Amino acid sequence: MKKFYITTPVYYVNDVPHIGHTYTTVAADVLARWHRLAGDKVFFLTGADEHGAKIEEKARDMKIEPEEYADEISGKFRQAWQGLNISFDNFIRTTDEKHMAAVQKALQFMYDKGDIYLGKYEGLYCRGCEQYKSERDLVNGLCPDHKIAPEKMSEECWTFKLSKYQDELLALFKKDKLKILPAERKNEIISFYEKEGLEDVSFSRKNIAWGIPIPWDKSHTVYVWADAFLNYLTGLGWSGEFNKSKIENLKSKMSMWPPTAQLMSKDILRVHTTIWPAMLLSLGLALPETIFVHGFFQINGQKMSKSLGNVISPDELVNKYGVDATRYLIMSAAAFGHDGDISFEKFDAKYNADLANGLGNLTSRVSNLIEKNELELKLKPDQDKKLIREFIKSMRDFKFDEALKLLWSVLRRGDETLSEKKPWQITDKKKIKNILEPIAQDILNAANLLKPFMPTVAEKVIKQFSDKRIKKGESLFPRI
Ligand code: MSP
Repeated sequence: MKKFYITTPVYYVNDVPHIGHTYTTVAADVLARWHRLAGDKVFFLTGADEHGAKIEEKARDMKIEPEEYADEISGKFRQAWQGLNISFDNFIRTTDEKHMAAVQKALQFMYDKGDIYLGKYEGLYCRGCEQYKSERDLVNGLCPDHKIAPEKMSEECWTFKLSKYQDELLALFKKDKLKILPAERKNEIISFYEKEGLEDVSFSRKNIAWGIPIPWDKSHTVYVWADAFLNYLTGLGWSGEFNKSKIENLKSKMSMWPPTAQLMSKDILRVHTTIWPAMLLSLGLALPETIFVHGFFQINGQKMSKSLGNVISPDELVNKYGVDATRYLIMSAAAFGHDGDISFEKFDAKYNADLANGLGNLTSRVSNLIEKNELELKLKPDQDKKLIREFIKSMRDFKFDEALKLLWSVLRRGDETLSEKKPWQITDKKKIKNILEPIAQDILNAANLLKPFMPTVAEKVIKQFSDKRIKKGESLFPRI
């Protein structure tokens, strides 16, 4: 049995879930479901990143304890994913006791190995990114992602020997031992390694109380990214135990290690291809197989932001379109790996065209005609080998939008045949059957492949069209 371990980032709880987080999470769910259907042993991890300066500050602004604040918002993420039928196997919180204990053990291991030393950080820090910045990262003195001026920092800190791993990591990327996809992202990272290179990085903060204490120096807390990355291990149940650099429970809990695919967007690629794999090398653990970077959503050509008031939440989408339609609209909104521009207008139009008129109308017309003419059909769900082959290829290449387009081209063909042959004007039942049977077969083929994207709708259609006596069902997508 093949294993498939997929992760999303752990999302910061300084903000409620929005369509950007939803994109990554639904994509991961589609892959997890797809691999489960293929019979693979799947583990799908998502969760919440709850420590650090930005969350401490947010809680302070709201005059509540960070614990209480993190409980509330991480609960919202969990609910949002449940509402979208996300089939995660674990929802990890970086405030889980077990996670925190494992982080301490991992850091102690790296310290004992000599990979962490007492240094001093003098420079800039962006709370938005929770990252140390150099002047050349800034645009007009501001962080280009968060449009805020980073704070000046000068403090003693426990420092990770990131630079030590520069050559080893670069060689691994070049050999695709850790695959970075799409290819242009790999080139970007290789060029970063070659032009700028890795500098040691502060792994502790003195003045941030909302974090995990450094085990050998309780006056510091662990740098939030070092804490967060380890979720990918603790989320499997890893407890941070080492036995002469080997992991305890290697066979049981860690049998899913390493991740087959880690999904994220471009904003956090750099840290995921520097600090993260370097930590794994330091810990003596295998690197993830693939990091896939998808694009950023903009809303009507603008960055999504609270100040612009254009943030779209998963709840809004589900309330308006329903669960499966929301999943479809998000996954078909852009070429996976490229930026996309979205808006409610575009979603409405696509909903009506592809779902109400497309899939919905076709299944209802065809089933209605079959029922009216009392046709008996024997259909099987996997009759189009070419479609299956092409669909598998798109899924393997993370081209979800193309996978969906393949299915919709099949549905469109059915629509065209109906309009051309007008079976409702024919009286000869045999002729009607000859027209309708291949269309119904196409619908069933498409529905079967649609399962990972639209689990509930796909099952409904499959059930309807697998019956010997197909009946007109309820309307799948009421028009908007
Ligand atoms: N907490 C860190 C991740 C730690 S992982 C060890 C973090 N959290 S985040 O809440 O800011 O999430 C960033 C991720 O959310 C992006 O990489 C992407 O997966 C998703 N997106 C956030 N905004 C997005 C868009 N506007 N468009 C597409 N995806 C976006 O970074």
